[in-house]
Amino acid sequence: MQITKNRIWLLTLLMVFSFACEDDDKPMPPAVERIQATFEYSISPNDPNLVLFDNTTDGEGEFKSEWDFGKGEAFVLDQEGVEEVRYEDVGSYTVRLIVTNEAGNTVASEVIEVDVNGVCPDGNCEVQDSGGLKGAANGFEIGMAVRDSRLSGAYDQALTADFNSLTSEYQMKMNILYPSEGNFDFSAADAIVNYAQANDMHVHGHALIWHNATPSWVENFAGTDEEFEAMIKNYITTVVSRYKGKVRSWDVVNEAIEDGSNTLRNSVFRQKMGDDYISKCHQWVKDADPDVLLFYNDYNLTFDSGKQSAMFAIVDDLKTQDLIDGVGAQMHISYNGPSKSQIESVINGTVSRGLLMHISELDIRANPDNDLTALSGDRAEAQKAKFKEVAQIYNAIPAENKFALTVWGLKDDESWLLDFWGVPDWPLMFDAGFNKKRAYEGFLEGIQ
Ligand code: XIL
Repeated sequence: MQITKNRIWLLTLLMVFSFACEDDDKPMPPAVERIQATFEYSISPNDPNLVLFDNTTDGEGEFKSEWDFGKGEAFVLDQEGVEEVRYEDVGSYTVRLIVTNEAGNTVASEVIEVDVNGVCPDGNCEVQDSGGLKGAANGFEIGMAVRDSRLSGAYDQALTADFNSLTSEYQMKMNILYPSEGNFDFSAADAIVNYAQANDMHVHGHALIWHNATPSWVENFAGTDEEFEAMIKNYITTVVSRYKGKVRSWDVVNEAIEDGSNTLRNSVFRQKMGDDYISKCHQWVKDADPDVLLFYNDYNLTFDSGKQSAMFAIVDDLKTQDLIDGVGAQMHISYNGPSKSQIESVINGTVSRGLLMHISELDIRANPDNDLTALSGDRAEAQKAKFKEVAQIYNAIPAENKFALTVWGLKDDESWLLDFWGVPDWPLMFDAGFNKKRAYEGFLEGIQ
């Protein structure tokens, strides 16, 4: 009996076991897993403020992808292809892609950093350190127009990082240096020259004679023409001798050509000293400092071919007397002109004469038609392209004609053009907060 009982028990056990085994062989419904969200992004090659997001999430079954572009706006359902998002304002944006399926959701995120130049590659907003503009320039100097009150703090940092030549924006002109007869005032000029020496920079002297910076006592000179000429000779000799060996070069006469007629401007200097007053002044500079480089400097020499010819006529005359070393083309231009070939024309004329070329007062208006109230991304880009073009043209000239590329002011909010034109503009390489603009990058790219 006992055996039979055991057999039944064993049979039952076997049946349960085989049922269990049979059940094990049946296919289980697959367990749903969460899908890992992934995405990649790149900055548009055409627009540094535009980011292209690519959802690279890969997974089986149904899932939903939603974007949070980090701007505090509603989630956006992922679409076919890349998503294009503009980031205009400087700051950090945490971008998230949320992928959801039956099992739950996963998140991928990246931080997009934006500075004044646009979205920073790999979140790194530092412009590549190339030793600054001066470190990148090959065989010529990078100049900046300065004032004695703007040589310390953040100015000092920017100047010493990027520039190795200084031009006084207005404090080495006659109305400041010689405000009244017999009384010279060298205080500001000395401060600039001393700063340059302390920081291993050259000084380009600007400008001994300029009709727009002539003190009233000179405009209304009381003495004879001979006395006037003797006074000018004394003034030039005094100033040039003081800075002998410290100022490398001088704009002797600035802007001597009359607009329109392209004849000699009828300044008090021409009236009292005659048509050859320019060569007289050059001679006195040379007598006071035989090593100093002599420049003739003027504006609108690119698109105004008549003015350019008049300028080269003056220069050729000085050259026959061995009284000139170089030409200064001011280069107050706009993002949309003059053209590349117009800029090249004045440079080619200078190079063909075997003279030094100074782009002496570079600034590039972004708002010449007053159609902007703030610098737009597109305009900043166009301005960058023009800075790059000028720098490239300059960089391409023969080594023996290279001298300096001087920018007329550091920060947008301090450009002389704001007062001059009376409209908003952002013509320089640094914004009001000393940040490098795209214009800076363009300039750097152009000289590399
Ligand atoms: C300008 C300065 O930038 C101003 O600060 C100043 O008040 C007037 O002169 N051409 C020249 C420069 O040769 O000397 C001028 O500089 C700008 C035009």
